[in-house]
Amino acid sequence: MQGKKKVQITALAGDYIGPEIMAAGLKVLEVVGENGRFDYELHEVPFGGAAIDQTGEPLPQETLSACQQSDAVLLAAIGGPKWDHAVKRPEAGLLEIRKKLNLFANIRPTVIEEAMQQYSPLKNGKPVNFVIVRELTSGIYFGTPRQLDENYALDTMRYTKEEVQRITRSAFELARKRKKHVTLVDKANVLATSKFWRRIVAEIALTYPDVAYDACYVDAASMKIISAPQQFDVILTENLFGDILSDEAAEITGSLGTIPSMSLGSSGPALYEPIHGSAPDIAGKGIADPISMIRSVAMMLANSFDRADLAAQITTAINAVISKQIVTPDLGGNASTTEVTDAIITTIKESRNSK
Ligand code: NAD
Ligand code: IPM
Ligand code: MN
Repeated sequence: MQGKKKVQITALAGDYIGPEIMAAGLKVLEVVGENGRFDYELHEVPFGGAAIDQTGEPLPQETLSACQQSDAVLLAAIGGPKWDHAVKRPEAGLLEIRKKLNLFANIRPTVIEEAMQQYSPLKNGKPVNFVIVRELTSGIYFGTPRQLDENYALDTMRYTKEEVQRITRSAFELARKRKKHVTLVDKANVLATSKFWRRIVAEIALTYPDVAYDACYVDAASMKIISAPQQFDVILTENLFGDILSDEAAEITGSLGTIPSMSLGSSGPALYEPIHGSAPDIAGKGIADPISMIRSVAMMLANSFDRADLAAQITTAINAVISKQIVTPDLGGNASTTEVTDAIITTIKESRNSK
């Protein structure tokens, strides 16, 4: 008898702390999946600096094909000083994979759960729960012309109507499943692209009468993320603003090293990755926080494979371990990557045994 086809997952470990946290994420995935709970086939392929070293290209064709043929992609992190002067940097591979998989919607959550409250630099103790919906395949990251000369440099920020419409719909659809509030973050007091976004987003907002809509300039939004983060539910924003605000938003939870993300297109595999980079300053020391990667695995299980049950097991275990203060130095602890990961795994197994 032929068994059901296993789901295909491609893992891109990348550079510096990338392989360290990917190992942690995959170990947790293996444990939650064991004994037939979740069957999958894993493809580990080179990407970023690691791929440049092996093939000369940050995104080799084989790696792209593996991703395209998968049901989901897990990415740890790429880049670092070793390749900062490469002709084609690892970061170019990251932009290319986002573009080739058409991953236009990047969802970056900011949640301060009770367990994390003690690590947050914010002192008011109120729960925070918002998401940044970042446009990921256009804007100044991709606009042409581009030029870099001795005495002159040029980048182009551009958006088409269709690009703004599709990400806006993603944000409003997501808001419907949450607190029904979208805030557009832009620089409409200066930039033409932002004025354009305001016009299009306002039109679409009218078609979601059940969702509250407002807009905020990016400078003020960066202040409010610290002074009044409770007022946000879904922040909708363009590529560059989303990049910057999401690191800031991550840090109010206590550490950038705990935040996952999900990137979606209209079809094809979604990609799950921490929002941080390859942290070259701590690579090789065994102290990288694995939580961002482990949460990315949970996000994948819930969103690509409809396994909210397994995702909840992981999240509950993470919170239990954080509450016990088994945390890496970024959260002020002295546990290693392996100790945190193993504590999470032990907690998952215990919770299964107690049922
Ligand atoms: P970074 O996000 O790698 O690090 C910023 C700070 O956060 C560092 O002090 C680092 O030690 C800390 N940090 C990040 N992740 C951590 C974790 N899991 N545990 C503990 N501490 C953690 O940013 P950077 O140093 O500016 O960039 C390093 C490289 O990563 C660059 O080449 C950059 O382009 C690249 N980058 C890649 C991605 C990606 O792969 N998606 C994202 C951002 C940056
Ligand atoms: C991120 C990163 C990337 C980005 C870089 C490495 C190209 O900072 O995923 O947030 O700017 O999108
Ligand atoms: Mn970033």
